[in-house]
Amino acid sequence: MTTNATTITVTGAAGQIGYALLFRIASGQMLGDDVPVKLRLLEIPQAVRAAEGTAMELDDCAFPLLESIEVTDNVHHAFDGANVAMLVGARPRGAGMERADLLEANGGIFGPQGAAIGERAASDIRTVVVGNPANTNALIAAAHADGIPAERFTAMTRLDHNRAVAQLAQKTGATVDDIDGITIWGNHSATQHPDLSNATVAGRPATELVEDTWVRDEFIPRVAKRGAEIIDVRGASSAASAANAAIDHVRDWVLGMVPGAWTSAGIVSDGSYGVPEGLVSSFPVISRGGEWEIVPNIEIDAISRERIDASVAELISERDAVRSLGLIRD
Ligand code: NAD
Ligand code: LMR
Repeated sequence: MTTNATTITVTGAAGQIGYALLFRIASGQMLGDDVPVKLRLLEIPQAVRAAEGTAMELDDCAFPLLESIEVTDNVHHAFDGANVAMLVGARPRGAGMERADLLEANGGIFGPQGAAIGERAASDIRTVVVGNPANTNALIAAAHADGIPAERFTAMTRLDHNRAVAQLAQKTGATVDDIDGITIWGNHSATQHPDLSNATVAGRPATELVEDTWVRDEFIPRVAKRGAEIIDVRGASSAASAANAAIDHVRDWVLGMVPGAWTSAGIVSDGSYGVPEGLVSSFPVISRGGEWEIVPNIEIDAISRERIDASVAELISERDAVRSLGLIRD
């Protein structure tokens, strides 16, 4: 039987995010309940058996939309004909590792994966990098993917965005559906800027409903450091919420968004809002016609400007570090 199945490659498939992600993709929650999917699970050799166990469980769900599952440790096979690549697997920071060591170790993963995407993926490939440091890993992958427009490589900041929406909804007693106009700027790291200066709550400016001190002393640090807070409380990094955000990101990118709403995504900068061209930075975005577009003409207040510049400075230093390691060209 030939179908128009979408081929989705998930790396790090045996990890905790992979386990929270794959069943939702296979059930149709990402691309819709009328789109058959073929899953390719990429793992390192030591984790292939665990990924095979996950594949067995996927079989056991008898998902009507799941056409096939393949588990592989071959990066070229993994991305052959892929329409969507979700790059989750990454090298975590180990004891005694400096930031440069982490960037180098991940460059050794995301460079070859980007190259394989360039050689083997389908022409409509869309890639989201979840594995940290996500923005710079996306930059590295894009730089190695010959023939693929850099715009097809993105980094996930949707989890930060969803966290910001939830915090504002809880503070104001609103529902998450009432919140619009929140932006995550910059890097997926503690330097990010969660910005509610243009947000509305059921149509009212959020700044009229919450105090400046709450924004400065609670909202911004809580959202920016939420990843560390989850690790502290849960004893492991966020997994189901990260998988959920990855699904939100890909669904909106492929299927489009409700008109008028915006979200946040790490995309290649076109120079907007003073972010140097070529950096993968989080922006306010809408998805239209299968492409992310930066929301134009947003007012940036002085506090936001300072914080965006600081996060962008971190992205520049990560880019310069991977450049000096020879992981991207000048
Ligand atoms: P995990 O350690 O449970 O799983 C990672 C998996 O990746 C492992 O199974 C490992 O074998 C695999 N892997 C390592 N190198 C690989 C390679 N070269 N090819 C294929 N697979 C490879 O980690 P996790 O909790 O699933 O998190 C994965 C990544 O996502 C981490 O880098 C984490 O920091 C990041 N993360 C990002 C966000 C975000 O918002 N962007 C949120 C949460 C976690
Ligand atoms: C998160 O934001 O939850 C993660 O990026 C944290 C981490 O370091 O894995």
